[in-house]
Amino acid sequence: MSTQEDIAVSYDVSNEFFALWLDRRMNYSCALFEGTDDLEQAQVNKLRYFHDGARVDPGKRVLDVGCGWGANIEFLARDMGVADLTGITLSKAQFAAIEAKQIPGVKVECVSYKDYQPERPFDAAISIGMFEHIATPEEARAGKHIAIYRDYFRRVWSWTTPGSWFGLQSVIGDRVPRNPTDLREIAHATYTIFPGAITPRLEAIIASTNPYWEILEVKTRREHYEKTAAEWLRRLRSHETEIRERWGDRYEEYERYLAACVMAFAKGYQSLVQMLLRRVD
Ligand SMILES: C[S@@+](CC[C@H](N)C(=O)[O-])C[C@H]1O[C@@H](n2cnc3c(N)ncnc32)[C@H](O)[C@@H]1O
Repeated sequence: MSTQEDIAVSYDVSNEFFALWLDRRMNYSCALFEGTDDLEQAQVNKLRYFHDGARVDPGKRVLDVGCGWGANIEFLARDMGVADLTGITLSKAQFAAIEAKQIPGVKVECVSYKDYQPERPFDAAISIGMFEHIATPEEARAGKHIAIYRDYFRRVWSWTTPGSWFGLQSVIGDRVPRNPTDLREIAHATYTIFPGAITPRLEAIIASTNPYWEILEVKTRREHYEKTAAEWLRRLRSHETEIRERWGDRYEEYERYLAACVMAFAKGYQSLVQMLLRRVD
């Protein structure tokens, strides 16, 4: 699992820095493009997909595992009328940002899923872009990742009521790069921007849901992440002067990382999966 120090490298850079190139709601995950949608609309489409897919309604108690800056819980509270929402994140900066918003019905905790104990069970769970932090590259190389993923699925199962749905989104590893330049750029993004994290393979996620969750829907959305990352890169570049002035070398680092993301999704080294799971009771 990524440690709190790892998470600080990835997410505690500065909330203002991320606000310059993410969408207005600050989703730090793949959007869902339909037709000529821009990034703002495509991020709402993604949030709506999980609202519908996890069978959320205003009366349900909903958990967001790895809630980022709160885009999903804020959407569910303000746009969909959900009155009982909890988000957990391991980032202190994200936790503080959500707390400061004082969103009615929203509770946020700065805690790892490994230490989390809900007061009462939830009726639905959603986790967007957090699965990549569950196993480290070292654990995956040692073949321990499936057991670690299964333990995660067991925990989410134990926090939910019978019949609950779980909406999950994760980057997945697809074709293995052979080209040394591509390998180097992907390694930079993995080890410099997201230390302690690794993209799972789809078959590893599928193998580890058993016996806790039944898989009802699996969608891969590789092109959608290529588009999302390209839009983040375009926005980052449009703020180059300000970012260089305020954060120095961080500009180069993030430009390189986002360009590597666009390349990795375009060439099929990485893809994106959205899954709808139902509790096995
Ligand atoms: C790529 S961000 C995605 C954030 C958000 N879901 C979104 O779509 O914008 C990954 C999130 O997972 C959280 N996270 C990583 N490891 C975690 C852990 N062990 N327990 C709880 N949250 C964790 C991070 O703090 C961060 O909020």
